[in-house]
Amino acid sequence: MRKALFIASLLLAPAASLAGDAAAGKAKAATCIACHGAKGISLIPIYPNLAGQNAPYLEIAMKAYRDGQRTGPSAALMKPMVAALTDEDIANLAAYYSGL
Ligand code: HEC
Repeated sequence: MRKALFIASLLLAPAASLAGDAAAGKAKAATCIACHGAKGISLIPIYPNLAGQNAPYLEIAMKAYRDGQRTGPSAALMKPMVAALTDEDIANLAAYYSGL
């Protein structure tokens, strides 16, 4: 199983953004599905779609929540979601969602 995942990540790597690893991002995205949908299209109209969004924008947005630069009632929902993510995790998530 681990070997299969590793091979899958090698196969997916060329299609991913240069900055991040989409397969690794997908593995981190389990907690995002409740609000942003299984394929990055939100089922809740007041939550944003992420699928197909530009990776650099997604990265900047996630870092802004994590680092407290995006604030407000909705941003308060996002901050705990990204609080424990490293820059690498964020780049991987951005590569995953931009590729959907
Ligand atoms: C509890 C619901 C919830 C969960 C879970 C959640 N988000 Fe969000 N997310 C939101 C809301 C609400 C916003 C809009 C916040 C605002 O108005 O700034 C948002 C915004 C974003 C944005 C910015 C979109 C844009 O167009 O500016 C990104 C990127 C994002 N979320 C990524 C993630 C990722 C990655 C995860 C999982 C690690 C995640 N979110 C988990 C609710 C959630």
